[in-house]
Amino acid sequence: MIGLGNNDALTRKRANQDYIKFWEEEAHKLYWFEKWTKTLEWNPPFAKWFVNGKINASYNALDVTVQKSPQKAAILWEGENGGTRTLTYDELLNYVCKVANSLKSLGVKKGDRVTIYMPMIPELVVSLLACARIGAVHTVIFSGFSSQSVRDRVYDSKSKIIITADGGFRRGAIVELKRVIDEAVSDFDFVENVVVYVHAKIPITLGKKDRIWNDLVNNASEYCEPEKLDSTHPLYILYTSGTTGKPKGVLHGTGGYLVHLYSTFKWIFDIKGSDIYFCTADIGWVTGHSYIVYGPLMHGVTQVMYEGALVFPTPLRIWDLIERYKVTILYTTPTALRMFMKYGDESPNSKNLSSLRLLGTVGEPINPKVWEWYFKVIGKMNCPIVDTWWQTETGGIMISPVPGLETISLKPGSATRPLPGINIGIVDEHGNDLPPETKGYLVVKNLWPGMLISLWADDEKYKTVYWSKYKGMYYSGDFAIKDKDGYFWMLGRADDVLKVAGHRLGTAEIESGFVSHKSVAEAAVCGIPHEVKGESIIVFLVLKEGVTSSKQLEDELIQHIRNLVGPIATPDQLYIVSKLPKTRSGKIMRRLLKAVANNENIGDVSTLEDEAAVDEVNTAFNDLRKTIHRN
Ligand code: WTA
Repeated sequence: MIGLGNNDALTRKRANQDYIKFWEEEAHKLYWFEKWTKTLEWNPPFAKWFVNGKINASYNALDVTVQKSPQKAAILWEGENGGTRTLTYDELLNYVCKVANSLKSLGVKKGDRVTIYMPMIPELVVSLLACARIGAVHTVIFSGFSSQSVRDRVYDSKSKIIITADGGFRRGAIVELKRVIDEAVSDFDFVENVVVYVHAKIPITLGKKDRIWNDLVNNASEYCEPEKLDSTHPLYILYTSGTTGKPKGVLHGTGGYLVHLYSTFKWIFDIKGSDIYFCTADIGWVTGHSYIVYGPLMHGVTQVMYEGALVFPTPLRIWDLIERYKVTILYTTPTALRMFMKYGDESPNSKNLSSLRLLGTVGEPINPKVWEWYFKVIGKMNCPIVDTWWQTETGGIMISPVPGLETISLKPGSATRPLPGINIGIVDEHGNDLPPETKGYLVVKNLWPGMLISLWADDEKYKTVYWSKYKGMYYSGDFAIKDKDGYFWMLGRADDVLKVAGHRLGTAEIESGFVSHKSVAEAAVCGIPHEVKGESIIVFLVLKEGVTSSKQLEDELIQHIRNLVGPIATPDQLYIVSKLPKTRSGKIMRRLLKAVANNENIGDVSTLEDEAAVDEVNTAFNDLRKTIHRN
C-alpha cells in the first residue's frame, strides 16, 4: 500500500453520488469574476460547463498567487547550454501583461488565433498566458514539426499572428524555427505579423511583417486587465493526429478545462507549497499545456523548466537537474524512462535523488519492468508512481492513482482506477459492457469538465469521431482491460494512430506525405513495437510505373517525409513492394502488414485480394533487402 496519508474517502463518495454537483463544488476553488448559472448544459454531443460563468485562465494561473506570495519562484529555467533564469510569480505576471499589451498593439482581439512555435523557454509559457489574458485563442505547434505541418495548421486556424524564436537548442544543434516559419507562412495574407524572440542569436531574415519581441515588449505598458471571459470561451486549439490525413484541431474551453486541471493536479501530485515540480514534456503537446502551464501555475507551484534533451551532453543531465534543483515530483514518459534505463544505473546512482517524493508517467503504456526500475532505481522504493492515462481530447488526466486523496496499492503497469467523477467503461463493438479481464474499447460514460468542446471549425467531424460509434459514450480509440479489482490496463490504440516516442502520429498523415512524392503511387504505414520508443514506424511503398527503386530514391523519400511532417515521422524501416495487400473492397490490410513486420502469423487472409500480394510483402520483409535503419 502506497499513499501519503490523505485518506479522503469522502471525495469519491461525493463524486459517485452526483458527479455534476461534485464538479460544481470543485469549481468554487477557482477564481470567477462571475459565478455560473448552470453547471452543465448538454446538447449531445456538445457540452457547456459552468454556463454564464466569467473567468480568466491567466488570472487563475498568476494573479491569484501574486496576491499571496509575489516573490515565490514560478519557473526555474535551464537552457541546454547551461544558462539559467528564475521568474517569480510577480515577474511572470508583469511579463505576461507586457506581452498581452504587445499583442493588443498588433491588433489581436478576443477570439483571434495566435500560433506559437517556440523552443522550451519561459517566453513560450508567457505567450500562452498572454493570449489567455486577452481572450485570444492560442494554438501551439510542437517545434519538431516541419514547415509543411506548420503551414497546414496555420492555414486551418487562420492565425493572425505567429510567435516564434530565431532558434532553439536541441542535442547540441540549433533548430532554426524562424526559417521554418518563413517557409511555411510567407504567402499567407491573413498572417499579419510574425513576432520573433531572439534566443539562439543566429542570423535571420526579417521581412515586412516581422517584429522583434524585445522591440515590442520593452515598450509595452506594465499592466493588462484580464478579459472576463465566458467559461465556454475557447482557450486553445491543439492539433493532434487522428485516422485521416489531416490533423484535428482539438478545441478546449476555459472554465471546465481549468476546473479539471485544478482538481486533478492537486489529487494526483498531492501538491504542497514547498514542492519543486518537474514535468519533462514539451509545451507543444497537451501534457505541457495542462501540466506545465495551467495546472501547476494555478497551484502556485515552483517548477523546473528545461530546454533541451534530457541526456545531453551526457546521460547524467536529468539526474543532475533533479539533484541541483532538489526536485520533489518528476513527471515524465515511458519512452524517456526506457532510454534512461538503457544507459544503466550508474548515472542515477551517482546523483543524490533523495529530494524526490512522487513520480509520474504519461503518454504511453509503461512496461512493468520499466515501472519497477523507476520505482527502485529512481524512487528508491519511497516514491509512489502515478501512471496517468488521458488524451489531448480529455484535456486532463482521467485514470490515475490519487495519492493526494487516498491510499491505494499500485500494480506495476496499470494506471489503476478512474479519478473521482470520471466514469470509464470497457465495451465491445456494440457498446455492451465487457466482463473483467476482457479486452475491449475504452469509453467514457459521464461527461467531464476538461472535455474538448469541439474540433476547430468542424463540429461534424467532432460528432463522427468521438460520439458516433456509441450512443451517449465518448469513444477514446484505445483498447484496455479492466481487471477483477477494477484496475485498468491500457493496451494501446484501437485505430490507426501511432505513439512513437510518446508523440502522437496518424498513419494516414504519414501515408499522404509519402504519396505526395512524385515517385510514389501508394503507401501504407504501420507501427511495430520498439524497445525504447514504444512503437516505431514501418512503411510499405508502391512506386509509380516506370520508377525503379534505388538507395538514392529511398534516402530521398525519407528526407521528403522529414521535410513534410518532421523528424519525428522518420520511418525505421522502408520496404518497396509492387503491390499492397488489400481487402476485396480495396482497403489496405494493415493488420497483415503489422503481422509481417512483426514476424508473426498472418491469420485469416481470405479477404485479401489475392495471395500473391501477401507472399510479396512477406518476401520483402524476410529479405530485409530494402531495410533502412535510421534515427
Ligand atoms: C496513450 C497524451 C497508456 C493512449 C496525454 C491515448 C497512454 C493517447 C497513457 C493520447 C497511459 C496516454 N498509459 N497509454 N498512462 N496516457 N496514453 O493525445 O493511447 O498525445 O489514447 O495525450 O496516448 O495521446 P495524446
